[in-house]
Amino acid sequence: LPKTTVSPGGALIAGNWKMHKLSSEAVETLRQLQSCLAEAGPLPAGDVLICPPFTALWALRASLDPSGPLGLAAQDVHWQDQGAYTGEVSAPMLVDAGCRAVLIGHSERRAQAGETDSQVAAKTNAALDAGLMPIICVGETLEQRQAGETDLTLKAQVKAVVDGLADQHRSAELVLAYEPVWAIGTGQAAVGADALAAAATIRATLPPQLAAKARVLYGGSVKATNVAEFMRHPQIAGVLVGGASLEGREFGRLVISGLKAKSR
Ligand code: 13P
Repeated sequence: LPKTTVSPGGALIAGNWKMHKLSSEAVETLRQLQSCLAEAGPLPAGDVLICPPFTALWALRASLDPSGPLGLAAQDVHWQDQGAYTGEVSAPMLVDAGCRAVLIGHSERRAQAGETDSQVAAKTNAALDAGLMPIICVGETLEQRQAGETDLTLKAQVKAVVDGLADQHRSAELVLAYEPVWAIGTGQAAVGADALAAAATIRATLPPQLAAKARVLYGGSVKATNVAEFMRHPQIAGVLVGGASLEGREFGRLVISGLKAKSR
């Protein structure tokens, strides 16, 4: 049976390929990642997720061991299972295509597609209904940060998800990715202390039954050279990586460094 969920509680590194790669390119990148990881020998435990465009999911699935640590996640999901929603993809469809997890509420979707907090909550329920691990992205813009509204922003984004959770998901296992918008694709990563402060705010906004199981990731200009700065902290379970996940061997080096930092 395909493994459809990520391991509870463990380290988690996800590479978000955004709108990059044809299927053939995706398969080649995965091959390079796999050979880089294989050359490294036995690694500390942790899940590694690739979030390709929808169109590459099936091609990548064929090259992955369903029970292995390397798996697939999607970049978005609709909140309905099916219906008249042209252009959308549902959670059962993502499971069908081999996904274990799905990104929800990425800042690019919030900013470019006008995705709202209530849609993020509805998508989270849909993912959980289907057995997908939701990776919910939150984070402040530069303007919000400069206005001293980082905490306020994070609390509002997290609270919207908590308030919108269906009864059966009130003690679900959630992954929350802190991605400050000003750090995405800028080469200007947050410092570890900022990520820790955000992780604390996120956790404090969750009710105890969710906080007990939740994992917080950091995302925004994570590279092989700075991943350890985030993953060495027990409060940060892993990272969500954009640009540095596009090249297979570079992402492999990042994964190796991150998992080793986590196990130290
Ligand atoms: P970069 O790693 O390119 O900054 O992107 C981060 C991101 O948006 C991952 O979802």
